[in-house]
Amino acid sequence: MSEAISALPVIAILGGTGKEGPGLAMRWASAGYSIVIGSRQLEKAQATAAELNTKLGLDTILGMENEAAARCASICVLTVVQAAHQPVLESLKEALLGKILVDATARVDFRDPRPPAPPAAARIAQDILGPGVKVVAAFQNVPSHVLKKGLGQALNADVLVCADDPQAAQEIIRLAKAGGMQGYFAGPLDNAIVVEGLTSILISLNQNHGTKTASIGITGINPV
Ligand SMILES: NC(=O)c1ccc[n+]([C@@H]2O[C@H](COP(=O)([O-])OP(=O)(O)OC[C@H]3O[C@@H](n4cnc5c(N)ncnc54)[C@H](OP(=O)(O)O)[C@@H]3O)[C@@H](O)[C@H]2O)c1
Repeated sequence: MSEAISALPVIAILGGTGKEGPGLAMRWASAGYSIVIGSRQLEKAQATAAELNTKLGLDTILGMENEAAARCASICVLTVVQAAHQPVLESLKEALLGKILVDATARVDFRDPRPPAPPAAARIAQDILGPGVKVVAAFQNVPSHVLKKGLGQALNADVLVCADDPQAAQEIIRLAKAGGMQGYFAGPLDNAIVVEGLTSILISLNQNHGTKTASIGITGINPV
């Protein structure tokens, strides 16, 4: 897949066959991005890609094994189940070199929502991947149920973007915007522990209000 054809970067969604990945994939594919769904199993990735293409009336979403998906993208978004976070990163270390890795991991158990202990999942990712990968923490607070609603419309959900590389953060803020979300640069990668922890509050709010769609909104500043 050549990025010369399109000015937009190719995006791989690693573990994109679950609940969160397809929602992000559909929003970015609708905005014209080339998307590669990654999975441990090629057939599963291709089945998810085909399902999303059918829903959107597109043929631009591809399915590949996680490593092949990572190799052909310049931005990789990690949406594997929490328990697989570290092993998947270890296994993709080489394939991710030179890329932006967006970590959407929120290590919160929805049956017993408590904030996770530091360091942030994204800091763990950066330590595993080393300086050759720019890790950005984002989308941890955007519920899959929200992403799948009103495709093509702006979402009533903001995205806190934490990164040690402000340029990489800006790139992901643009990506959030393309998906109908307002992103905000929320400081260095270590701040992502707070963002992850907010997920425990959102889950508690959902439990207390009988919803699945609680998310966050920032007030008091004009987004740029
Ligand atoms: N769900 C949400 O609303 C939401 C919101 C914000 C952030 N997140 C974060 O996004 C991530 C994914 O959440 P999810 O709800 O989408 O999870 P999920 O649906 O339970 O699983 C996502 C994918 O993880 C892969 N996976 C499962 N076990 C694995 C293993 N042992 N090794 C490698 N890959 C494995 C599977 O892909 P394959 O079988 O195809 O390999 C699966 O489709 C989590 O870190 C979560 O905190 C979720």
